[in-house]
Amino acid sequence: MDRIRIRGGAPLNGTIPISGAKNAALPLMIASLLTEETLELGNVPRLADISSLLRILSNFGVDHMIAGRRPGETSETGQTIRLTARSVIDTCAPYELVSTMRASFWVIAPLVARLGEARVSMPGGCAIGTRPVDLLIMALEKLGAEIEIDGGYVVAKAPKGLTGATIEFPKVTVGGTHVALMAATLAKGTTVIKNAAREPEVVDLADCLIKMGAKIRGAGESEIVVEGVERLHGASHDVLPDRIETGTYAMAVAMTGGDVTLENTRPELLAFALDVLKQAGAEITSTDNSIRVRRNGNGIKAVDMTTDPFPGFPTDLQAQFMALMTKASGTSRIRETIFENRFMHVQELARLGAKIRLDGDSAYVEGVPTLKGAPVMATDLRASVSLVIAGLAAEGETTINRVYHLDRGFEALEAKLVRCGAEIERIKG
Ligand code: UD1
Repeated sequence: MDRIRIRGGAPLNGTIPISGAKNAALPLMIASLLTEETLELGNVPRLADISSLLRILSNFGVDHMIAGRRPGETSETGQTIRLTARSVIDTCAPYELVSTMRASFWVIAPLVARLGEARVSMPGGCAIGTRPVDLLIMALEKLGAEIEIDGGYVVAKAPKGLTGATIEFPKVTVGGTHVALMAATLAKGTTVIKNAAREPEVVDLADCLIKMGAKIRGAGESEIVVEGVERLHGASHDVLPDRIETGTYAMAVAMTGGDVTLENTRPELLAFALDVLKQAGAEITSTDNSIRVRRNGNGIKAVDMTTDPFPGFPTDLQAQFMALMTKASGTSRIRETIFENRFMHVQELARLGAKIRLDGDSAYVEGVPTLKGAPVMATDLRASVSLVIAGLAAEGETTINRVYHLDRGFEALEAKLVRCGAEIERIKG
């Protein structure tokens, strides 16, 4: 298994190109199942999760073509993928495939909407607490699908098609909103999605569905209205920038010090997190498509933070922010309200010398002047990158084991950091 070795202490200086968002690319790729025509997606990041989903889609009979690299493109500039679900030969997504990535469960929506049936494995356990799919099932039931659980599979049937309805989510769910949105595009009549997730990835999916002929208004607000249409057609769409990757590098710079410009991104995608970083003492200036993060001289101040659905502070940046707070002056309280048990990075950060006390949904982080490098273990995607950030700011050497978690979600991580002066390398094995 590969490891990552970091020699900490160097400030980061330079530019980092931001990739397309994994969490937008996945539902967009799944939306290709809604039409027999070709969906062309640009700015798709090169990540393990993208390859896993391509395998799942291929299993259904979706043809894919990855465009060759054009002049000026590098391994950091994303790829163009064309997906064509002309004839879907199989509507079953087996456990071996779904268990590697929860988001693949979302295929259930376009399959039942377009083909009238789907059999998708329950996603199974996950390292960051129980993550049920009850609300996704509720949404499909509201639209008239008959749902049965059979041998670990969710079987959805709607032989006469889905029918528009009002779907009110009792809590904000990104996956639930994606599922409701995709299914409603082909349902007969009007669907109203209440308490919808307002995440930019939902807006990106809606924008693409609209290009495919869907009638949607209100995406990005908490009530979305979808008028069902008979069929959708092909389209071409670029994946929006990855706000979590953007925020991760911004926190890395705040932690190591230096001056880095994050390119091909959009500040409004993470306004709340950038504001918290400013309060912590980072200097941030933005243009429409870039963010410059600087920290020279002064240290980092402790800031309290609570995760919330968009536009609040994203849970996917919680671990990275905690890494930053380990070296702040003072004690910060970090509250996690989206997922239970999303504090696995705490033990690993403690191995580097961090002082963190857990109490229910909160972590109290008492800043220390220095962290010291140590061997640590990646536990999930966002937790692992928090260890990278901490390692970059720690004295001496940090090795991170189980880095396959990082490969699921961070494109060209080492290359992007090396170009800013970090000492980081991958050890194959
Ligand atoms: C997505 C993101 C993930 C992010 C999360 C929250 C992708 C591929 N993943 O995950 O990176 O951390 O949003 O921003 O986009 N819930 C239920 N029942 C359900 C569904 C969800 O109780 O049927 C709960 C979850 O346990 C959690 C909360 O709702 O407590 C929010 O989860 P949700 O927004 O659905 O997360 P995902 O879509 O899985």
